[in-house]
Amino acid sequence: MVTHRIALIPGDGIGREVTPAARQVLDVVGKRHGVGFAYDEFDWSCRRYAELGAMMPEDGLDRIRHHDAIFLGAVGDPSVPDHVSLWGLLIPIRRGFRQYVNLRPVKVFAGVESPVRAARAGEVDLVVVRENVEGEYSEIGGRLGHDLAVQEAVFTRAGTSRVAAFAFRLAAARRGRLTSATKSNGIVHTMPFWDEIVAETATDHPGVTWDAEHIDALCAKVVLDPARFDVVVASNLFGDILSDLAAAVAGSIGIAPAANLNPEGEFPSMFEPVHGSAPDIAGRGIANPLGAIGTAAMLLDHLGHAEAAAEVEQAIGDVLAHTRVRTPDLGGTATTETFTKAVLEALR
Ligand code: NAI
Ligand code: MG
Repeated sequence: MVTHRIALIPGDGIGREVTPAARQVLDVVGKRHGVGFAYDEFDWSCRRYAELGAMMPEDGLDRIRHHDAIFLGAVGDPSVPDHVSLWGLLIPIRRGFRQYVNLRPVKVFAGVESPVRAARAGEVDLVVVRENVEGEYSEIGGRLGHDLAVQEAVFTRAGTSRVAAFAFRLAAARRGRLTSATKSNGIVHTMPFWDEIVAETATDHPGVTWDAEHIDALCAKVVLDPARFDVVVASNLFGDILSDLAAAVAGSIGIAPAANLNPEGEFPSMFEPVHGSAPDIAGRGIANPLGAIGTAAMLLDHLGHAEAAAEVEQAIGDVLAHTRVRTPDLGGTATTETFTKAVLEALR
């Protein structure tokens, strides 16, 4: 029996409510596959910030550097500015551990009604590959008094080509189609640079059909015709926006999983659902756990347990297709706990 050491960071709000669901699922499916999980839990959060003035300790990264993976619920609380919570925890982990791919698969499940008529179950199956450590999210810039703010985006050749190469490899292993999100008409330095590097990378992957689309038009197409997309590669900001949009097209942001990957395995990768801490529903026990459970499946896959991962995905699909159990975001009245139980039942 292998045992994986997992650094567990429940975080804030519904992060604390959905993390136990992921953990139960990992334990149940792990048992069947001879895989154990040993969790070390960390209280890094806005609550900690209120008490100690920092989201995580100074040596935080060193404490989780040797774990096999990190599982994070969500961070953020109205009492702490969002840029403080994000830059105090998530971004240092993503950057410090070179998790340069943010992988966000989007599927429309049978039994989930999408707000978008064109998003039919079984037809929509796309993956957003978001560049996760550079681009528009930079600290370079500043404010001059009241009246001026400047923010620089940073794109490197190494950073762009490695995420593009990852996306092309993924597309080759899927349906062989890649779309690159750009905005090289309006953003005249970084986006033409991005386009050039994607085009260069494409020459190494002749089996993949690809094109570049401006992010504004691309957003419209994701709503109007989501089934035509396979892999979409995007910069940090564009990928962030696109993946929330695509998750909503799939029915609810509450069911969208995500992984921050260090593909080379030099550092642990971090698994976290797409959604945030949802302060508007936190504490009521009604958060949708499927995003966190799908994220657990991505963790299993990453650690080499593809079969176990597929079983978890199958269980999610079964509950949605064959039962009426749903949390309020999907139009039901179930609690997080009941929904989780249904998935565990389907797993067994
Ligand atoms: P959010 O994802 O927390 O919530 C957006 C909307 O979706 C809310 O109405 C919420 O109730 C609903 N929702 C989200 N997840 C759900 C779930 N599992 N089940 C049912 N409904 C769900 O995004 P928002 O409101 O922009 O941000 C709230 C806080 O979360 C902020 O502090 C933000 O900075 C933080 N955040 C953290 C992230 C992370 O830790 N990875 C990602 C996004 C936001
Ligand atoms: Mg986001």
